[in-house]
Amino acid sequence: MPDILETNRTQGLRPLTLLQPAKIAFGAGSCLQAVEFLEQRSIPSVALFVSRSTRELSKALVDRLEAAQIAVHLSEPLPAEPTFADAENARKWLRDTAAQAAIGFGGGSVIDIAKIAAATLDESAEILSFVGNGLLPPRNIPLLAIPTTAGAGSEVSPNAIFLDPEAQLKKGVISPWLVPDAAFVDPELTYSLPSGTTASTALDALSHCIEAYANRNAHPLVDVYALKGIQLIFAQLQNALEDGRDTEARSALALGSLYGGLCLGPVNTAAIHALSYPLGSEFKVPHGLANAILMPHLLRFNASAVPERYAEIAAHLGLADTSATAAENADRFIAALEQLCSDCSLPSSLAACGVTAGDIPRMATAALGIKRLLVNNLRDLSQSDAEGIYQNAF
Ligand SMILES: [Fe+2]
Repeated sequence: MPDILETNRTQGLRPLTLLQPAKIAFGAGSCLQAVEFLEQRSIPSVALFVSRSTRELSKALVDRLEAAQIAVHLSEPLPAEPTFADAENARKWLRDTAAQAAIGFGGGSVIDIAKIAAATLDESAEILSFVGNGLLPPRNIPLLAIPTTAGAGSEVSPNAIFLDPEAQLKKGVISPWLVPDAAFVDPELTYSLPSGTTASTALDALSHCIEAYANRNAHPLVDVYALKGIQLIFAQLQNALEDGRDTEARSALALGSLYGGLCLGPVNTAAIHALSYPLGSEFKVPHGLANAILMPHLLRFNASAVPERYAEIAAHLGLADTSATAAENADRFIAALEQLCSDCSLPSSLAACGVTAGDIPRMATAALGIKRLLVNNLRDLSQSDAEGIYQNAF
């Protein structure tokens, strides 16, 4: 296993490109800046992608857009855990509206759908044919993203993930043209989230930061985002769960989620996400919850061979003992993470999500197919390693 820091010392930092929205607005009320963004560009009409839960939440924005004489086409409620068929339907709807810009207003699923619909608007090929890295041509209309959860980070990432039901796999389209032109991260939109969603989405953001920091392709340019995101979420998740209107806690989680999103393009996630995908595709376990269940078990597997990066996270969280070994400090971090997850009162086992022991070998085979993420993991995983991690989480 190459030591990341040693490689950086001996070979120089590897080249890295950061692709981010040209405009990132953060803060309470910032979502209304989307109106100004469209006005400045004389855009007369916009397609607003929403879910069942964000349709009502979008009312203030819709009112402001209409007051500015911008015609709003409001989507039907979009599903969670969308399929490629859902993405195709959304693209057709966007074409039918003839809107001049698109806004994704929701959690990661809604934003992913808005991203792919806008980016493939003028393409005739099916969206499934763009699965992979760098296969999309340039996008032709402006794309704005307004997250209403603090977790996925899709508002700043080049990824859009959909379920292929035939293959029972989640597949990713990755392209610079999926990075929105503008992201408006408004913590006020998260105040009314139920605690279960707050917890699972925050733990998803936390997993983005942890997997980007402890990653074969980690990079100092991204480490700063990852560490800051980890600190914020550790410090404030419990406060947000105790009082959903705690403005400081909600801002911290929104910022932590944004930091996690900024990790996704240049470094990306690793085996936690690879192993969590079969839980989403086959058992419909919400993405953040699947990550939360697997996270401590996968980190123990990694840390047993490569503890250093986890020990560094422990130090940044003030959990490390300077006289202890890296392995001991990694254990301190993982124990604190396990405590944070259990304090969230989420289901904590695969069995609680409807998985049976007989499902594990099939899930392990499916997860090992997600090579684009596994290549980032600090340790290689065999079939029996993946099955062992699922069994530990069972
Ligand atoms: Fe994620």
